[in-house]
Amino acid sequence: KQWFAQSQELKGKKVLVTAGGTMERLDPVRYLTNDSSGKMGFALAEAAATRGADVTLIAARTTANPVAGVNTIHVESAEDMLQAVLERYDSAELVIKAAAVADYRPVTKASTKIKKGKEKLVLELERTTDILKTLGERKKDQFLVGFAAETEQLEQYAMDKLTRKNADLIVGNDVSQEGAGFNVDTNIVQIFGSEGLVESLPMLSKREVADRLMTLITTRMKAAQG
Ligand code: CTP
Ligand code: CA
Repeated sequence: KQWFAQSQELKGKKVLVTAGGTMERLDPVRYLTNDSSGKMGFALAEAAATRGADVTLIAARTTANPVAGVNTIHVESAEDMLQAVLERYDSAELVIKAAAVADYRPVTKASTKIKKGKEKLVLELERTTDILKTLGERKKDQFLVGFAAETEQLEQYAMDKLTRKNADLIVGNDVSQEGAGFNVDTNIVQIFGSEGLVESLPMLSKREVADRLMTLITTRMKAAQG
């Protein structure tokens, strides 16, 4: 009975989750990326699907296992992810931006393999579009959840991101702590809302973190959207 109630919580709701680390190409065989495994986002997509949601997962480079019953779209760069998210944003009711999106990409992408030459090579990079901020600016009734991976001043930086990006919740993790963040199966998160710290979770498996987060998110969505 309880399982049934939980499984129906997001029935009929369209949920968009992004996960993984974007890849920004230098040439056909080289790229810039980061340590994100995609596991947190995949776990969130699964937790939403378990609650009956219609889930689309937009995945950049990842080592996570595919999730059954989730429509997964693979993308490479921050720009690809932006387009894939924007195409689906208007009809989404909940958007969770767990992806580690590159902040910079190479200014030029060589069409053929770059040959070695001089002793030093300087790469010129330019800023990517901030996807979450773009979504925050275009927000109508969507419930918007972002992440903040920090190595210091977690609360201050997380709250700053919440405000700047017009998010409803920011999931902060101190990635300098052992058992948190990139490339591990556990996470230690603190969740922030407009009122400040909402919940502080102990070290848990990413699956458990995802489940606890979805419970908090659905409670808040009900309060906000009825
Ligand atoms: N994000 C995004 N698009 C970007 C960069 C970040 O959508 N180009 C999103 C991430 O998916 C995450 C949130 O913004 O949900 C915070 O990402 P983070 O890297 O912690 O913050 P930044 O705003 O990029 O700031 P900084 O890296 O300087 O801390
Ligand atoms: Ca960043």
